[in-house]
Amino acid sequence: MKKIIIAIDGHSSCGKSTLSNELAEALDYVYISSGKMYRAVTLYFIENNISYSDQAIVDLALPDINIHFEKIDGNDTTFLNGRNVESEIISMAVAQQVSPVATIPAVRRAMVQQQQQMGLQKGIVMDGRDIGTVVFKDAELKIFLTASENVRAQRRYDELLAKGKPVDFESIRQNLSTRDRIDSTRVDSPLRQADDAVLLDNSNLSRAEQLEMIKALVNLRTSI
Ligand code: C5P
Repeated sequence: MKKIIIAIDGHSSCGKSTLSNELAEALDYVYISSGKMYRAVTLYFIENNISYSDQAIVDLALPDINIHFEKIDGNDTTFLNGRNVESEIISMAVAQQVSPVATIPAVRRAMVQQQQQMGLQKGIVMDGRDIGTVVFKDAELKIFLTASENVRAQRRYDELLAKGKPVDFESIRQNLSTRDRIDSTRVDSPLRQADDAVLLDNSNLSRAEQLEMIKALVNLRTSI
């Protein structure tokens, strides 16, 4: 069957990674979370005390940041300069800095270049904020996913709790809302629905229902 590029964008914590992961498994595609790449850059800046408001320092640091993904026990795992940082990048410390870091054009340019490289072979599901509008403008299938803020905060809360990182519900809700605001209003590649994206609000959908809907869209696109 024809391999395509599937771009999944949307608000923070609306289940993009769950959907992308399940979809990639079902189709035997590669899944790349572009958000994890911005989180890994942010972690690097925090750990190395890099003041990211200084353009010259950011430009110097970027070539030293190498991010790759590996499957460990069946899970896509993020590596920053050869070190497994999967656990660190979901911390609140990173969540609080990642959206400002992701507004920096030089950071975006570096990430987008790597992401486009990853899509050359097609057969990829990538999720993020600008995948359908910037990274893969010609993606054969674009989904814009959203859900109500409370549903999203509850999902992120449950996820962190399950990973042994208990946090306060209200801080999570505020973090989601702040990230969405920064992501949607930044000058470079703001979060917005691509004109040719399919909008899906999954507040009241089960994971299975959501997956079936998207698989039906994939079938339509791959049979053309
Ligand atoms: O997807 P995730 O919530 O992990 O992304 C973390 C942050 O990275 C987002 O809030 C956003 O600021 C940034 N991001 C981005 N562009 C992408 C993916 C993520 O700006 N394509």
